[in-house]
Amino acid sequence: MKGYAIINDKKIQFEAPGGKHLLDFIRDDLQLKGTKEACREGDCGSCMVLLGKQENGDIRYRTINSCMFPVGEIQNSHIVTIEGLNEDKLTPIQQFMVDEWASQCGFCTPGFIVSMTGYFLQAKTLDVDDALAFLGGNICRCTGYLSIKKAMTRLCELVDPDKFRKSYEKNRVNYLISEGFLPGYFESISVLMSHLPAEADPEPFQHGNVLLAGGTDLYIQKADMISTHEPYFILRNSHFRGIRQEGDQCVVGSATTVSEMQESDLFNRLVPEFKKYSRLISGASIRNRATIGGNIVNASPIGDLSILFLALNASLRLELDGRERMIQLKNFFLGYKKLDLYPGELVKELLIPMELTDHVIHFEKVSRRTHLDIASVNSAMSIRLNNRKIEEIHASAGGVGPVPMYLNGFCHHLQDHFFDEKLMETGIQIALNEINPISDVRGSKTYKCLLLEQQLRIHFSVLAAQINKIS
Ligand SMILES: Cc1cc2nc3c(=O)[nH]c(=O)nc-3n(C[C@H](O)[C@H](O)[C@H](O)COP(=O)(O)OP(=O)(O)OC[C@H]3O[C@@H](n4cnc5c(N)ncnc54)[C@H](O)[C@@H]3O)c2cc1C
Ligand code: FES
Ligand code: FES
Repeated sequence: MKGYAIINDKKIQFEAPGGKHLLDFIRDDLQLKGTKEACREGDCGSCMVLLGKQENGDIRYRTINSCMFPVGEIQNSHIVTIEGLNEDKLTPIQQFMVDEWASQCGFCTPGFIVSMTGYFLQAKTLDVDDALAFLGGNICRCTGYLSIKKAMTRLCELVDPDKFRKSYEKNRVNYLISEGFLPGYFESISVLMSHLPAEADPEPFQHGNVLLAGGTDLYIQKADMISTHEPYFILRNSHFRGIRQEGDQCVVGSATTVSEMQESDLFNRLVPEFKKYSRLISGASIRNRATIGGNIVNASPIGDLSILFLALNASLRLELDGRERMIQLKNFFLGYKKLDLYPGELVKELLIPMELTDHVIHFEKVSRRTHLDIASVNSAMSIRLNNRKIEEIHASAGGVGPVPMYLNGFCHHLQDHFFDEKLMETGIQIALNEINPISDVRGSKTYKCLLLEQQLRIHFSVLAAQINKIS
């Protein structure tokens, strides 16, 4: 694939297989060795770079793991490696890392500096907890995290929260240049970008081609195959992007990323705690790439988004050769990694009923580590009560069967009944009879049954408390 991009302060013309790992392109082709290579699976953050793309007339920067990013998507973008953040003197981010003794062998340090810079570029408002959580995708094996956290906390204290918030709508880049967080050349990037050839939507997907969304599953499963191919980049096709209201449905394009859902006012009205739940889904840089289509089609029995969307009673709009059909998400998963999806058929959109704004919704996930880990068991429930009568209920559970499970028997048992503790306990027994977990590295069968039992009790108690608060 041929194209133009901006790497740090220079415009380049590139020619490489579209699926080639950006990490290899940066280190081998461009000889920029500051970006480090370790796990190549999105787990350690040593390969972190910034991706700047035009969005609504502005350039928005996000952190990405270059070990899981295709060269074909740098087209018309600004890629910033650690070399592109260096000036003659240290930035405050680098200086505070030095002052707090936050680097020993230094292998992880470029990745941390890029992630820290990425937080200040990406965050709408300043929040120390969010800032520290943003570094959850970076691993350091020798310094210890306390000094890194101290550096990040001090940086948050250095920034004026009001100016920071206002600059999100009005040129964050200029604000960060004025604070010394970014080199001055960032100011000229929008002009450089405007001289790049305009980008059109790609041709429709052709059967037989490899479809790549965020690549956070595919680059783990089929890295060698993708890196030598020209995959179809669905994220470059606006037809599959965006979140909008259509009548009484919230429509989410399948190539929408978790970060875009976090930022969407409409989606957050529908799931008010989404920001909290989504912090449990991978780390910030993976969330910047991971799409809902990828999560659903990957069909992992513990896919967090699949579990949440099942409890939101979502449907899918599928597309094959321009023809569309609808299917309820709960009927989409047929067996382990088996889907009701024809060869060449794409998930176009996910539709969620907007009447869910009357519901209360709750999501739980238990994993071995709180952050950047897959679930042992995850579950979600949405419920609408009218004078203690359950008018509508949807519940789902992951890690307890071969597919992300909609708890049919459980929901049927509770629907149209008056809610009390006895009903809840009999419902839980029904749920335990409809699941079929296996013992594996994430826990024994008995442990997973116990987890789901407890999670269902937590859903009920949290939802009951929320309902009491509303009424
Ligand atoms: C470090 C790390 C941490 C992770 N943590 C979590 C976690 O906490 N929770 C979790 O649920 N997942 C997690 N994941 C898994 C992954 O990030 C998610 O499943 C993600 O949503 C996959 O989306 P993607 O866009 O990257 O998919 P891709 O890898 O691009 O694609 C996955 C599959 O879906 C197909 N596909 C994608 N979009 C469509 C479409 N519209 N129509 C038809 N087929 C399509 C692709 O062809 C491919 O077969 C993690 C992954 C990594 C690397
Ligand atoms: S090399 Fe570890 S996240 Fe990329
Ligand atoms: S400083 Fe050695 S791995 Fe972080």
